[in-house]
Order: sequence, then C-alpha cells, then structure tokens
Amino acid sequence: MSRVAIFASGSGSNFQALVDAVEAGRLDAQLSLLVCDQPSARVARRANDHHVPCFAFSAKDYESKEAFEQEILKKLQESEIDWIILAGYMRLIGPTLLAAYGGRIVNIHPSLLPSFPGKDAVGQAIEAGVKVTGVTIHYVDAGMDTGPIIAQEAVAVSEDDTRESLQKKIQLVEHRLYVDTVKSLLHSEVKS
Ligand code: GAR
Repeated sequence: MSRVAIFASGSGSNFQALVDAVEAGRLDAQLSLLVCDQPSARVARRANDHHVPCFAFSAKDYESKEAFEQEILKKLQESEIDWIILAGYMRLIGPTLLAAYGGRIVNIHPSLLPSFPGKDAVGQAIEAGVKVTGVTIHYVDAGMDTGPIIAQEAVAVSEDDTRESLQKKIQLVEHRLYVDTVKSLLHSEVKS
C-alpha cells in the first residue's frame, strides 16, 4: 500500500476528506505523516484526532528553506513516504524536496489554472467577474501553481456569490476530486 505524506498550513478540510476516505475504505493508502508549517493550525489538531503522525515546524526556526526541507526529507525517508500530497500548503516546494520526490508531489488549487495562481484564487475570481472557475490538481514543479495538470473541474459562479459562498462550492468539489484523483494515481502506480 502506498505511503502518503500530506503537507498543509491551515484548516485542513482537504486533509480531513482524505482521512475520511481512508477510514471508510474508499481510498487504499497509508496516511503516514502530516507536515505542517503552522504548528497551531487546525489541521494539526485533526491529525492528532485521527492518529496521523505530525511533523510541525516554524520556518523562522531555520536558517533557510534548504535547512527545513532537509529536515522534512529526513522525516519522509524515516516514514518511507512514496507520495507527497499538498493540501493548502502555502509554500513553494524547493529544490531539496523536488530532487527527491519530483513527479510524486501533487497539489490542489482553487481555480482553473493557469487562471488565478497564487494566494486567494477565489477572491481573484470574484474580483475578475468570471462566470466559471473551478479546481485544478497538478504535479508540482518549481513554479507557483504551475506543473502538468492531472485533473480539473469547473464550478459556476452565480451573480450573488460572495467569496465565502464560492469558496464553499469549490471546497465541496475539491474534497471529492482530490480523493478520486489520489485514488487513480496510487492505483495506476500499482498496475505499472
Ligand atoms: C484549498 O482550497 C486549496 O485548494 C488551497 O488552499 C485551501 C486549503 O483549504 N490551496 C492553494 O491555494 C494552493 N495555492 P483546507 O486547509 O481546508 O484544505
């Protein structure tokens, strides 16, 4: 069974969707580690509640990105991690992790990339007045929300949508699409 690390910085609703799918037997994976760069984030409490080991760190305690990524890499190797799933991890992945896990790092982003990369993609969509936005799941490279696209799904924006209402709609899609896509990625790996 593939061993997965989830990286997250915030609330962790996508982390929760993946945990729920594993616990319900809908996703055949071992969620072996949460890597969290905000020790007080809700996602760290969710990991604790579901007995997922957590490596929480503060970037300011390290000299450089390379230094904290070396420590993350050590934890990933100790836990024999096969795949890294980014779920609201608000940092660029640096050369240390890309060299070790390139092609096995996946991200979810709340827009139809290449539209609205970076922070507050939902607010950017409202601001731009688009009628359709959505969700993208992609492999991670050195760029900000770039990298080959694996899956996308559109979400309609209504006249009366606010940032909050649109975020809710997008997150519902995210939770389903992330579980399905991770399942396909892990499954295709078993077959090859
Ligand atoms: C998700 O909507 C995810 O797509 C987004 O952060 C949110 C995390 O929510 N990621 C990005 O914007 C990456 N550029 P969650 O903590 O509830 O899963």
